[in-house]
Amino acid sequence: MHVHRFERLWFGASLVLVVAFIGTIIYGAVGPGIAMVDDSGGTVDPSVIADGDYESVDNFREPGVYDTEDGVDVYVVARQYLFQPGTSEAIRVPAGEPVTFHVTTPDVTHGFNLAGTNVNSMVIPGQIAEFTVTFDETGKYGIVCHEYCGSGHHTMEGQVVVVE
Ligand code: CUA
Repeated sequence: MHVHRFERLWFGASLVLVVAFIGTIIYGAVGPGIAMVDDSGGTVDPSVIADGDYESVDNFREPGVYDTEDGVDVYVVARQYLFQPGTSEAIRVPAGEPVTFHVTTPDVTHGFNLAGTNVNSMVIPGQIAEFTVTFDETGKYGIVCHEYCGSGHHTMEGQVVVVE
């Protein structure tokens, strides 16, 4: 059977595309440096976070930075329309050590993205988003809320400062 040369060419090109698409999906699921949202951070009663009664929660602490054996733990509350700790207090973390973020919200779904990095998570009421990052270099990173959360969404920002 004779297949026209151009037909063979396009058939080959479409096969390459199909394989490439499947490849990107697999890369997204298991590729390096990409963590999918899961429930490993645990859950928390959003009303307790709203009240600021952190003492009564066993897997979430007062917003701030805490030393651990090999790095730091950072607890962040996202709320309409700010991050705690906020820009004035800035979250100061060390370079070259694992930094584990625990982020939750008492009100609506927010986003937590460190501008210029691939640190990116949704923040869902009742859920604690947990992820670990090691910063190679010192610098300042803006925290951006990238989920529309209300009229003040565009003003919602914070800052992470990576120091020596
Ligand atoms: Cu919080 Cu948008």
